[in-house]
Amino acid sequence: MGEIDILLGLQWGDEGKGKIVDALTPEYDIITRFQGGPNAGHTLEFENEKYILHTIPSGIFRKDKLNIIGNGLVIDPSIFLKEVKSIKIPLAELVDKLIISSKAHIILPTHRLLDAAYENAKGDMKIGSTLKGIGPAYTDKTSRSGMRTGDLFSKNINEIYNKHKQKHLDILERYNADINLEKAEKEWFEGVELIKKFRVINTEYFINRNLAEGKKILAEGAQGTMLDIDFGSYPFVTSSNTISAGACSGMGISPKTIGNIFGIFKAYCTRVGGGPFPTELHNDIGQKLRDNGQEYGSTTGRPRRCGWLDLPALKYSCMINGVTSLFMTKADVLNSFDKIRVCTSYRVNNTFVEELPFDTNVDIEPVFIEMNGWKKDITDIRDYDKLPSALRDYVGFIEKETGIPVDMISVGPDRSETIIRGKA
Ligand code: GDP
Ligand code: IMO
Ligand code: MG
Repeated sequence: MGEIDILLGLQWGDEGKGKIVDALTPEYDIITRFQGGPNAGHTLEFENEKYILHTIPSGIFRKDKLNIIGNGLVIDPSIFLKEVKSIKIPLAELVDKLIISSKAHIILPTHRLLDAAYENAKGDMKIGSTLKGIGPAYTDKTSRSGMRTGDLFSKNINEIYNKHKQKHLDILERYNADINLEKAEKEWFEGVELIKKFRVINTEYFINRNLAEGKKILAEGAQGTMLDIDFGSYPFVTSSNTISAGACSGMGISPKTIGNIFGIFKAYCTRVGGGPFPTELHNDIGQKLRDNGQEYGSTTGRPRRCGWLDLPALKYSCMINGVTSLFMTKADVLNSFDKIRVCTSYRVNNTFVEELPFDTNVDIEPVFIEMNGWKKDITDIRDYDKLPSALRDYVGFIEKETGIPVDMISVGPDRSETIIRGKA
């Protein structure tokens, strides 16, 4: 019997999941995405090229590896079309190594309009959505009125499309939305034709059959635990289960098949969009993190909010996901800092707490400890023991606090700039 390892983000997304999945792919037979959609932007760098993936799993550039878009995703055919063009893999090769679930849900152009209309109506409670239509598409899924990839093959696709579109236009009437769909619809239908060239199947059978044959699968999360629909900082979250449990429903696998759960976190924190962020820095240190880490959104280009590592949030994420190995990324971004701070607890209403309150939108004051920086360029180091002792102390402190080993440290954006310590 094979095994499924899960790799997911423990913070607010953009932890470097794409880079690490790509680096780990040689160890696996199949890479699958299990939730989210084109709100994700996963960056891969190798051989002086940079690629950003939104819907396609990050194992796609490795030879002889299968990649699966699972049932838990929402797919926008027009974004998929652009993505396929941007990755420059010949279509015949891509069709061979990318399989799509017939049960994944489809984002329509009107879902994007709804996303914008709902967001506009939120006033000062804006989520800061990527406006890719994710929320409205998942809403249609849970209200049992969505369109699925398998439906694209119907000979009545135009009729089905128009029925969904009309339903959305009826809602949009209330929002004074600017509706001009001509270009978007053309791209969407072009994307639909492209999707139909791929193997669109019940991937749950395919995955379980491969597991029975002893294949190794890596499930790639999108977003991060603090954006999870149930356990994130609601309502400032995305619309799917980003946590390890989401891999079961998003792929059709049993929890019994899960092996390692790799939790990725940045050596500090970032968040893009609205919502609480206890350790956020509104000063020159925050700006330095943004500059050094090039913290601008992969999907929207928006500047990311930056702050120190938040241990109460990290421990919460480890607990919810059952993390077995921690991977720390972007350690090199802290190279030039004299002092590094870590939030170890919060002060809420004059009480010190180590647990996340129900309402994270209340005033949370982070309590920090300070550690020495390492003041050294670590980008060329590949051996954990050669890392500066101040960085090893930082890692040791995180391991002690979480009780979980830090098995991988990323020291640069390239797939080779990775230090593997443990069983990863
Ligand atoms: P994802 O959404 O979790 O896949 O992460 P993103 O790709 O949105 O954002 C991570 C960014 O950090 C990308 O620009 C990566 O190329 C970059 N990155 C990943 N790991 C490292 C690292 O260890 N050091 C540095 N400096 N950049 C990294
Ligand atoms: P990856 O996979 C960072 C954020 C948005 C917004 C909230 C809801 O690259 O880590 P949505 O578009 O889902 O309605 O947005 O979630 N968000 C992300 N932030 N990385 C992501 O994905 C994100 N996907 C959504 O900024 O605050
Ligand atoms: Mg990203």
